[in-house]
Parts: sequence; structure tokens; C-alpha cells
Amino acid sequence: MIALIKDSNIEYLKKYYNKDNIKDAIKRLNAGEPVQYIVGNVDFYGYELDVNKNVLIPRRETEELVEEVIKRSKNFNNPTIIDVGTGSGAIAISLSKELNCHIYASDISGAALKVAKKNICKTSSNVTLYKGNMLKPYIKNDIKVDILVSNPPYIDKTEKIEDIVKNNEPHLALYAKNKGLEFYESILKDASKILNDKFLIAFEIGQEQGEMVKKIALKYLSNIKVEIKKDLSLKNRFVFVYNF
Ligand SMILES: C[S@@+](CC[C@H](N)C(=O)[O-])C[C@H]1O[C@@H](n2cnc3c(N)ncnc32)[C@H](O)[C@@H]1O
Repeated sequence: MIALIKDSNIEYLKKYYNKDNIKDAIKRLNAGEPVQYIVGNVDFYGYELDVNKNVLIPRRETEELVEEVIKRSKNFNNPTIIDVGTGSGAIAISLSKELNCHIYASDISGAALKVAKKNICKTSSNVTLYKGNMLKPYIKNDIKVDILVSNPPYIDKTEKIEDIVKNNEPHLALYAKNKGLEFYESILKDASKILNDKFLIAFEIGQEQGEMVKKIALKYLSNIKVEIKKDLSLKNRFVFVYNF
């Protein structure tokens, strides 16, 4: 069985376990647990972040989203930025560190926010956390926003996903109703209540969702440009909605 485990994962484990205690970790790996949950952390955009079963393991594509937002943030002067569905805090923390600015971030999961809080402390990031459903915390606190970033849950329940993901990562972070579009609709429907005159919305999306998210954006917002962008694997992965 051990031969089935990727060498790179064993190397990863070796960084955190010694000869005496690595056996248990290998057992967990063999049982199908992601290596990041076993060691309890992940590298995201050069920052070591804690992860556990209450948060999605931040993905490489999401680093690309952060990169795009950093580039596009140059169109603004000291923008107010929010990260909706922050999970481990990966997007908010990397943006706050790279742009040297304050970020608001929110999640509906108290358990995820606990992880985000720990990561904010360990990276000394300037991030304020809120608990709540999609844009509700920002509406309630009257926060006006220039840049809204979100990697919301976007997998339809009927979609086949890898067992390692389905059996380990929080379903609250993965699944969304209405062909996986539920949260894009919720955000875009309420967006005009919090957006400043000039704005950027940056979404990570499922590879088949680009045109549908574009349609939803055009339904709720006027005078906008919508750009669907591919990730490094050449799959449609991001939607940018902006008006400048
Ligand atoms: C795909 S994960 C993204 C996590 C993190 N931003 C990242 O990119 O690694 C989606 C996150 O949205 C949160 N979420 C799910 N439903 C939500 C809701 N109704 N309101 C706010 N956050 C929600 C989940 O708890 C999860 O942390």
C-alpha cells in the first residue's frame, strides 16, 4: 500500500515527523487523508497557513486569483477590499500582506473563522473578520467596497469529484445549489448595496460556469465589463466584473 503514496507527500511528511512518529502519519495518508490536514498546514502564496478539516485546503488556482487581484488593484487608490467565504483566510491574508493594506473577510462557518483568526495572528496580517451569510455582514456594518474577491462554494451536488476531496474537505466549502451558481447569484444580487462607484469583483469559478456567471452579473449590474479568464491549466477559472 505504501508504494501507492506519492513520494512528494512522504517528503512533505518527513519535514514534520521523525522516524518514530511518521508511521501514524503514513497510515492516515494511506487511508486517504490529504497530507495538508495531516501536517496541519499548507504553503499559500509563500505564507505558511494552518489548515484542518473545517477549512478548504487552499488551491494553486486561488493563488492565481490573488495574483490577478494584486495586478488589478493598481487601478485603485487605497482600495477597500473584502474576501467573501474566507475559509483559512488564504486570500485575505495574502492580499493584506502583498498589498500592505487592511482587508475585511467573512465566512458563515465559526469553525473556519477560528482557523482564519489563527492564521491572521501567525502572519501578523491586517484582516478584520466577520461571521455571516455572503454579503450580509458588509451590508449590516455599512462597509462600502472597491474590490470584492470571492472563491465561494461552486460544485453542484451531482458533480463527480475526487474521493480525497469529497471524503475530507468540508461540504459547506464545496457545494452550492442551482448548478453550483447559488452563491454567485447571492453576491451579485446584493453587490450594488455595498459597491463604490468604481469597482472590481473577482471570482474563482468552476470551469463550466463562466458564461452563466457572466449572465448573472449582467442581470444585476449595469454598465459593466465581464472578463472570463483561464487558469494555468487553460481551464476557465476566473470571472472579473468591473466598470472602469
Ligand atoms: C471554496 S471555500 C474557499 C475558502 C478560501 N477562500 C479559499 O479560497 O481557500 C468557500 C468558503 O465559503 C464559506 N461559505 C459557505 N457558505 C457560505 C455563506 N452562505 N456565507 C459565507 N460563507 C460561506 C465556506 O465555509 C468556505 O470557507
